[in-house]
Amino acid sequence: MERPGWAPPGVDITTPTSSRIYDYMLGGSHNFAADRAVAEQAIAAMPHLPAVLRENRRFLGRAVRHLAGEAGIDQFLDLGSGIPTAGNVHEITAGINPEARVVHVDIDPVAVAHSQAILTGHPYAAAVAGDLRRVGDVLAHPVVADLLDLDRPVAVLLVAALHFVPDDATAGAVLADLRDALAPGSHVAVSHASDDGRPPAGLRDAQSIYARADSAVTMRSRETLDAMLRGWELVPPGIVACPAWRPEPDDPPSAHFPGYGLVARLPHPA
Ligand SMILES: C[S@@+](CC[C@H](N)C(=O)[O-])C[C@H]1O[C@@H](n2cnc3c(N)ncnc32)[C@H](O)[C@@H]1O
Repeated sequence: MERPGWAPPGVDITTPTSSRIYDYMLGGSHNFAADRAVAEQAIAAMPHLPAVLRENRRFLGRAVRHLAGEAGIDQFLDLGSGIPTAGNVHEITAGINPEARVVHVDIDPVAVAHSQAILTGHPYAAAVAGDLRRVGDVLAHPVVADLLDLDRPVAVLLVAALHFVPDDATAGAVLADLRDALAPGSHVAVSHASDDGRPPAGLRDAQSIYARADSAVTMRSRETLDAMLRGWELVPPGIVACPAWRPEPDDPPSAHFPGYGLVARLPHPA
């Protein structure tokens, strides 16, 4: 298998990763043949999967515009940020508040290297390697500590990321640890795969293909997500299919979306 020049040293290009499969489906170029093979199998099983991923990106955009605008947040921690593509979080926030701070965190070295390359010299945004399951370590990272003031509200993004954490207890602990560590007024934005209701054709086959590629996606119900949000206060409209979360007039008509989007905030103590 040919190794592209941009591949960071030490990266195994024969093992697919969720970030690179996603990059390929969004039309990006930071993926390897092994990632493209899995992506093509998943698209064959569920042809509207790339449209679902584009819907997820639109949810990300609307949530960040809400957070940086109406909610007035000027510090963002993007957990499972992925490989940079059109409409990165630091680009969206810059359009609203050019001095908003953004730290992108991902476990995939290709995502981190590419994010760092485009952010070199950026005064307000950075990218670091980290595991979102270890909230304490991420928050203590020197770059996070340098750019973000954790005594003030932060918006944490867990967009299409928490469903890569297989067990409910660990996924729930991520939200609980953030709740315990962050200042009142902080927010989380989450999108998450779900097979509630009647799942779209091919969803289960696509899920099996991801699982065989070591990128297993755990579907969670609305109820399970709600239970994980103890101590967080849902922002209207609550937990809804991603396309229904504050849709904007220019959004294209959406296909059936197998998952939820939500924004929640930490209330000030009574
Ligand atoms: C489907 S992509 C989502 C990217 C971006 N958040 C978006 O919604 O467009 C999921 C990302 O989560 C990352 N990821 C998965 N597990 C992770 C973990 N434990 N810690 C940090 N990142 C993780 C993957 O590497 C991948 O880049």
